[in-house]
Amino acid sequence: MPYFPTGTKSLLSKCLTPKIWEQCKDRRDKHGFTFRQAIMSGSKYVESGVGVYAGSHDSYYAFAPFFDKIIEAYHGHKPNDKHISSMDYNALKCPPFPPDEDKMINSTRIRVARNLAAFPLGTCVTRDERNQIESLVVSALNEFEGELKGKYYSLAKMTEAEKKQLINDHFLFKGGDKYLQSAGLEREWPANRGIFHNDAKTFLVWVNEEDQLRIISMQKGADILAVFTRLSIAAGEIEKVAKFAHDEHLGYITSCPTNLGTAMRASVHIKLPKLMKNKTKFDAIADEYYVQIRGIHGEHTETDDGVFDISNRRRLGRSEKQLVQDMIDGVKALIEAEKAEQ
Ligand code: ADP
Ligand code: ARG
Repeated sequence: MPYFPTGTKSLLSKCLTPKIWEQCKDRRDKHGFTFRQAIMSGSKYVESGVGVYAGSHDSYYAFAPFFDKIIEAYHGHKPNDKHISSMDYNALKCPPFPPDEDKMINSTRIRVARNLAAFPLGTCVTRDERNQIESLVVSALNEFEGELKGKYYSLAKMTEAEKKQLINDHFLFKGGDKYLQSAGLEREWPANRGIFHNDAKTFLVWVNEEDQLRIISMQKGADILAVFTRLSIAAGEIEKVAKFAHDEHLGYITSCPTNLGTAMRASVHIKLPKLMKNKTKFDAIADEYYVQIRGIHGEHTETDDGVFDISNRRRLGRSEKQLVQDMIDGVKALIEAEKAEQ
């Protein structure tokens, strides 16, 4: 059983009891992914928040005594609960922000993760399967017309300068993430990874990073409704041609259990230079409204200039529409608090 030093806070360390270890330690899912592989990341990096990854849709059931606990602890979703989905953008309560608040928001982005039903997850695919996934996804995306029409850029063919520019402009994944590496998600990097995007870079799809697809809608400013509407239409179009791993209990299946369900993260980059100095209040509001605070250069980054990435923390058991609403309500509360700070 892995050793967790005193003070370890990860969900892995909390959920992996000696009983569950005994039950699961020699199990494999139907693709041969072992329980020990699933817990490798958080065993190696004890500072993880969660620390576990699935090898396939089946992992969540093959290792159920363990994953049920993780999922309940993170999402509050119980083994018999059903996931509900709704990308009904007409039902979103999102009146435009007044001008003084609108200018606090630099940009808006919503992404959903998807994985193909016919393959195991990125943690467990072979090089050949990863290649097949890239071909299938890119040939479907290449058919898109209108606002969603775009081009695929293979990571292996990009120059360092092109990559750097796309990363700095917040469009592309960075690579080199130790958590993903320890879960096997960066094997044979950069082969068969890449990004599809339209000319305006408002519709983007990451291929074969943490999940096989990350479908992204983003733009400058605070028009959350426009971003959600575009995402909803794009995800619907892709779903017409691709069969995604999904079930009634877990919603969309993802490598990391934090993303299960909607697999959606809706965020704004927002200036909160005064509130950041009152960390206790900042964190309390984030907890109350179920939003997560990140730095603006992606997960595990810090902020030094008072701009933060605020997004929905929950992903499972509630619809996309409800979770975008979590983000909107949290952002409104943070704006009020920022204005109240001296
Ligand atoms: P993910 O959202 O895919 O889980 P990250 O937190 O690492 O992963 O973010 C990926 C990229 O998206 C980063 O470059 C980040 O700066 C960018 N990003 C996230 N939210 C926004 C936003 N609201 N506006 C602009 N860029 C954003
Ligand atoms: N495995 C990392 C941790 O437990 C990240 C978890 C959530 N983020 C993600 N990109 N899946 O801290």
